[in-house]
Amino acid sequence: AKEPVRVLVTGAAGQIGYALVPMIARGVMLGPDQPVILHMLDIPPAAEALNGVKMELVDAASPLLKGVVATTDVVEACTGVNIAVMVGGFPRKEGMERKDVMSKNVSIYKSQASALEQHAAPNCKVLVVANPANTNALILKEFAPSIPAKNITALTRLDHNRALGQISERLNVQVCDVKNVIIWGNHSSTQYPDVNHATVKTPSGEKPVRELVKDDAWLNGEFITTVQQRGAAIIKARKLSSALSAASSACDHIRDWVLGTPEGTWVSMGVYSDGSYNVPAGVIYSFPVTCKNGEWTIVQGLAIDDLSRKKLDITGAELCEEKELAYSCLS
Ligand code: NAI
Repeated sequence: AKEPVRVLVTGAAGQIGYALVPMIARGVMLGPDQPVILHMLDIPPAAEALNGVKMELVDAASPLLKGVVATTDVVEACTGVNIAVMVGGFPRKEGMERKDVMSKNVSIYKSQASALEQHAAPNCKVLVVANPANTNALILKEFAPSIPAKNITALTRLDHNRALGQISERLNVQVCDVKNVIIWGNHSSTQYPDVNHATVKTPSGEKPVRELVKDDAWLNGEFITTVQQRGAAIIKARKLSSALSAASSACDHIRDWVLGTPEGTWVSMGVYSDGSYNVPAGVIYSFPVTCKNGEWTIVQGLAIDDLSRKKLDITGAELCEEKELAYSCLS
């Protein structure tokens, strides 16, 4: 039998946490033959609710779940973890400036960076979900210098999956037959959902999405804004932000990272930019990546047309500006 993998979920008493921990316990993240021990962290005001989640996990009696640590102690939460899914954060409240939200969150990520660096298992893989996700991940990377930069990522898989969903609805095809969309840049409304290299499996072979949709105005307009603003549309409908889709996408992100992407398929991940595609280096930027043996690689050599170039630059500029703002909050 396999040794259990220790998976940390921060903010585990929150909305996404409540959707995510049962998925992990049932093998959605790491596969049906991988036992797990869940580490759940939240803050003291949520301690009782966190304990309730632990009670429900016990009651769910998942055969893969070999233990649960539910704590408000960051060190206890981080100790020995192989995977860390960082969902905990300070939500934007009415009347709060962007800078105030940024300030609250980057200080959380700065301190949790140190705890992970000192107490997580070697080679721990980190996924930051909490917003501003890319910049929180960057701060985590900067303040955990001994964790390799390649181990620190941000979630844009939800945006990627949203793009797949929109194409599948438009063409009335199965979502599993659509692949290789790309989310470039920031997990924010400047992100660029790009279908220029996306394809659909059809009875007569793989066809480009552009050829099948035959409506460039839709692809260059409404499709992009729908994906960019999907989060806001969910809030409007549910009066709460996306939770089950965020949790499910976080599982997809980790699963593909650990177990590998299928041959011929790439996914979108926020990763530490090396300046590929002439986007800014030194920020966490979402790229198309393939994964193998637990490591991601940016897909190289894709053609970037003029419209795309502008959009890659806009979201890159926003990330540089966020980085500056984050540092000004910490100084
Ligand atoms: P929520 O407010 O329901 O849960 C957040 C939890 O984090 C709360 O239980 C809170 O007590 C906890 N928390 C606050 N500070 C903490 C700290 N220092 N350490 C540990 N836990 C802490 O929020 P929800 O809906 O679960 O969303 C979580 C985050 O994910 C938000 O920042 C949201 O904006 C972000 N998000 C990101 C998405 C993405 O695609 N990257 C998609 C959807 C949401």
